[in-house]
Amino acid sequence: MEYRSVKGMEDMLPQDSDWWRCIENKARGELEFYGYSEIRTPILEDTAVFVRSIGETTDIVTKEMFTFSDRKERSLTMRPEGTAPIVRAYIEHSLGTLSPVTKLYYIGPMFRAERPQKGRLRQFHQIGVEVIGSPSPFADIEVLAQLHGMLKAFGLDGFVIKLNSLGCKDDKARFAESLKGYLADKQSRLCEDCKKRMEKNALRVLDCKNESCVQVIRNAPNIFDNLCAPCKDHFTRVKDGLKAVGVRFEETKNLVRGLDYYTGTVFEITHPGLGSQDAIGAGGRYDNLVKDMGGPSVGAVGYALGIERLIIALKGKAPGSGTAKVVYIATLGDAAKIRGQQLAEKIKDESVPRLVVLQDISEASLKSQMRSADKNGARFVVIMGEDEMSQGNAKLKDMKEKKEDVVAIDSVPGELRKRLC
Ligand code: HAM
Repeated sequence: MEYRSVKGMEDMLPQDSDWWRCIENKARGELEFYGYSEIRTPILEDTAVFVRSIGETTDIVTKEMFTFSDRKERSLTMRPEGTAPIVRAYIEHSLGTLSPVTKLYYIGPMFRAERPQKGRLRQFHQIGVEVIGSPSPFADIEVLAQLHGMLKAFGLDGFVIKLNSLGCKDDKARFAESLKGYLADKQSRLCEDCKKRMEKNALRVLDCKNESCVQVIRNAPNIFDNLCAPCKDHFTRVKDGLKAVGVRFEETKNLVRGLDYYTGTVFEITHPGLGSQDAIGAGGRYDNLVKDMGGPSVGAVGYALGIERLIIALKGKAPGSGTAKVVYIATLGDAAKIRGQQLAEKIKDESVPRLVVLQDISEASLKSQMRSADKNGARFVVIMGEDEMSQGNAKLKDMKEKKEDVVAIDSVPGELRKRLC
């Protein structure tokens, strides 16, 4: 029997961990700068949390959720996204009473039973934000400016921000009706999925990639023309604000989202390096969701980035693993090994950034320890054999300069700090 990871769920291997850590650390720094606090919600939620919010007829709810019954026959679902659980937590813990605007971020795995392909997994990871408590266009502007700045800070170029507005609940309902009217005599040219969507979720027809649907949609009514005056004004202020702060975007009138909770501003970030699954991230406003889930009536906006897709788009200019500074402590004999362990703690106290200390824990020969130091890319090797120990000294070998000094063991941490910083 050969065991393999579950289809569409991948191991994150040590050779890739630098990527993940670098992205996550950078994201935390960027988000905390903008006053976001981290929230971690459970992987499992009551299924109803997702059905009501994402929408009963959406692809996620009808086809993609990992849903099962627990021992008491309660229906549980592995979270396919982060917004609904966070709104659930916001209401459950009355987070809105702490301050009028709540700014939260999350980093973690999401689960969708999609057909796996490049950039599409069944367990994937998101960095997401939710700003709950402001209906203002300035919340949309700040969220998009922060996202834009963070993508730049990751070193990503060539991404495109696609922007649209769906309007309020009434606008969406009215537009769906006029779209249905337009599509009524063109049904035969729609794909099978769109024929079904037309009745239950007409807006989704607009972003179908099927060639004959694209033809039909070309002359479809325009969402923007259909917006009520306040929604038009909100969208205009968002666009003007983004231009003023230097965030470039493409207004994309057919951009609708695969989750029903959106109203008003919606956006998607695409990157040409990704192939068919080209969205690195997406988000928008969801002004009715908090109320619909039993909370107060507050405006909200957020986004989520797919970390795997971000890594594909960034590949080539990664934060390399070569940046860590490795010190190897090579020891012979029990006394030297104990001293080496004490020394490792003392070196740690020097707080040299990105320092890694390795030591022999398999009682190998000095020659094989030196080979190991070399293989691990050690910059310095601290050698403590019986001779050195008897004199309270260590050899400090600079592997790059190919030089060796004898120093007192007690001065090794200070010497390393001097030479590495
Ligand atoms: P979403 O568009 O469903 O939105 O997902 C956001 C991002 O997650 C996508 O753009 C993509 O990068 C990544 N993603 C989604 N599905 C997969 C998959 N199967 N494999 C790999 N990556 C994937 C949401 O999840 C909303 N909750 C975003 C949001 C937050 N809206 C407001 N606040």
